[in-house]
Amino acid sequence: MSEATGKKAVLELDGKKIELPIYSGTLGPDVIDVKDVLASGHFTFDPGFMATASCESKITFIDGDKGVLLHRGYPIDQLATQASYLETCYLLLNGELPTAEQKANFEQIVREHTMVHDQVSRFYNGFRRDAHPMAIMVGVVGALSAFYHNNLDIEDVNHREITAIRLIAKIPTLAAWSYKYTVGQPFVYPRNDLSYAENFLYMLFSTPADRDYKVDPVLAKAMDRIFTLHADHEQNASTSTVRLAGSTGANPYACIAAGISALWGPAHGGANEAVLKMLDEIGSVDNVAEFMEKVKRKEVKLMGFGHRVYKNFDPRAKVMKQTCDEVLAALGINDPQLELAMELERIALNDPYFVERKLYPNVDFYSGIILKAIGIPTEMFTVIFALARTVGWISHWIEMHSGPYKIGRPRQLYTGETQRDIKG
Ligand code: CMC
Repeated sequence: MSEATGKKAVLELDGKKIELPIYSGTLGPDVIDVKDVLASGHFTFDPGFMATASCESKITFIDGDKGVLLHRGYPIDQLATQASYLETCYLLLNGELPTAEQKANFEQIVREHTMVHDQVSRFYNGFRRDAHPMAIMVGVVGALSAFYHNNLDIEDVNHREITAIRLIAKIPTLAAWSYKYTVGQPFVYPRNDLSYAENFLYMLFSTPADRDYKVDPVLAKAMDRIFTLHADHEQNASTSTVRLAGSTGANPYACIAAGISALWGPAHGGANEAVLKMLDEIGSVDNVAEFMEKVKRKEVKLMGFGHRVYKNFDPRAKVMKQTCDEVLAALGINDPQLELAMELERIALNDPYFVERKLYPNVDFYSGIILKAIGIPTEMFTVIFALARTVGWISHWIEMHSGPYKIGRPRQLYTGETQRDIKG
């Protein structure tokens, strides 16, 4: 539990003083507990949750001004370069990095759950072949709610744990199949001799006709790092959605499907796909200046720029840029879109419009370029974000269910009609 600081904020309302307790976390600003405002007959008003902490959490810390992102205390750049994605998953779920033995056990149990119930594969046939893979993901992950009835007691710590393992293990299979379905290729089943990232790329790109398909280790390493950089990000829109859905006691798979839906929007996880579409639309470096004028006239947004919390730089973007350079160098790619992206970045970092508004490249700006270099189709970019973020969502869902919580139920400032009668 957070520490009461002994300090109080005083709010004066209609001549009466209300003392509001102030709590300290281990890092970050103190928070004012506004619950007692209710007794005065008022609500607080904070659209977009600009200044509202919706819960207490021990998983991830962000300092947006300093560009700091810590998972269980560890900086994201250290995790991305010194730990694997599955080690990061273990850390998010359990609070500590695994020992060698714990790591081996965790990898083994994830491997044992990579297959999905064969009945699940039939759900795909209900979709049109030109469906967006995110639409398929919302459907098939939600459909998992209809399975695993024996392990769905949300009060049971073991049930929560096995649900987390199932989700982390199965989501690459479901994600790869959401692509295979749209291109009309047969589903490729998981191979448990491969690492987590290798297995995903194998299921995505191999075909029964190409029996010797080998995953390029450079691409597998880059994929693993992309997963790690997207693993969690405290109370963002999709995680808050998972918590809100979970606060009703809903089925965890349905909660994760709700998270996937929230992630899909271009203001959130959909931005990585939107960056590539934007680069396509701009076409060449010659058109950048004109495009920037459109942005300033607020006709379009510069996708992959800006963040609600980071107002200095996005620490994930820093590592992502490095990875981007490594991947492009290893693959010997000289991508004209990269040149275009670099020109956008250069202008935005120097133009007062962007500087004054603290608009810096975010993680999605570079991830789109690497994913393209790896050969991932654009429509799959947000699916990959969802795959990687599943561990963050389920860690928050578990944290919420591991202690006391209330159903999430915000109030509103009503500005509609006052009571009136239907005229007879
Ligand atoms: N391009 C141009 N102008 C922008 C942008 C942008 N990408 N983002 C914000 N602004 C402007 C905005 O118009 C406003 O200007 P003014 O003060 O003149 O009205 C000012 O900057 C503040 O913007 P805001 O909309 O109040 O900021 P927000 O904190 O509500 O929005 C955001 C944050 C991420 C939704 C927004 O920056 C955005 O839409 N960015 C593009 C989409 C994107 O890249 N999203 C990925 C975020 S990182 C991955 C993830 O965690 O999901």
